[in-house]
Amino acid sequence: MATFSRAIVSLAPIFLLFNSFSEAKELLVGGSSDAWKIPESSQSHSLNEWAADHRFLIGDYLVWKYDSNKDSVLQVTRDSYLKCNTSDPIAEYKDGNTKVKLDHSGPFYFISGAAGQCDKGQKLIVVVLSSRHRLYAISPAPAPAEYDGPAVAPTSSATSLQSSVLVFCAVLVGFAMM
Ligand SMILES: *[C@@H]1O[C@H](CO)[C@@H](O)[C@H](O)[C@H]1NC(C)=O
Repeated sequence: MATFSRAIVSLAPIFLLFNSFSEAKELLVGGSSDAWKIPESSQSHSLNEWAADHRFLIGDYLVWKYDSNKDSVLQVTRDSYLKCNTSDPIAEYKDGNTKVKLDHSGPFYFISGAAGQCDKGQKLIVVVLSSRHRLYAISPAPAPAEYDGPAVAPTSSATSLQSSVLVFCAVLVGFAMM
């Protein structure tokens, strides 16, 4: 009985791990509820730096919090992103608590709908990995010319960490079963 419960305890991290692989995540843009704003002058691309530090998978959600009287979120084409062109966006959100599902792989471009704020750096590119990256997360860096922002961070180190955790858990289970 003691051995049995020990085995269950050892298995728990594995279930959690598989959960984290498969469950859609909600990612708060910029990592805090006041991040959708003109970046501080010293870090003109801070929103894209945040994006470079995260992995985005199909089915994940981006969440924005902002004052709906002063700002909005526009999903735009690459061209409109580069020009900060707020006319004719793909989608416009202005409810102050915006949730967008990342429903396909590839880049998503977002800019502020408030006058002049995109020009001051309030914009975001998120590159969603295709589903095969769930298993083999060796992501070739996108061609730099494609993006007006920092390159997407390679994800292989995060994945190798995940696989070492997995191996570690398997070893734990092995011990518990002995
Ligand atoms: C902004 O986008 C609209 C719609 O796509 C287009 O008609 C207009 O020419 C663009 N403006 C600039 C300055 O590129």
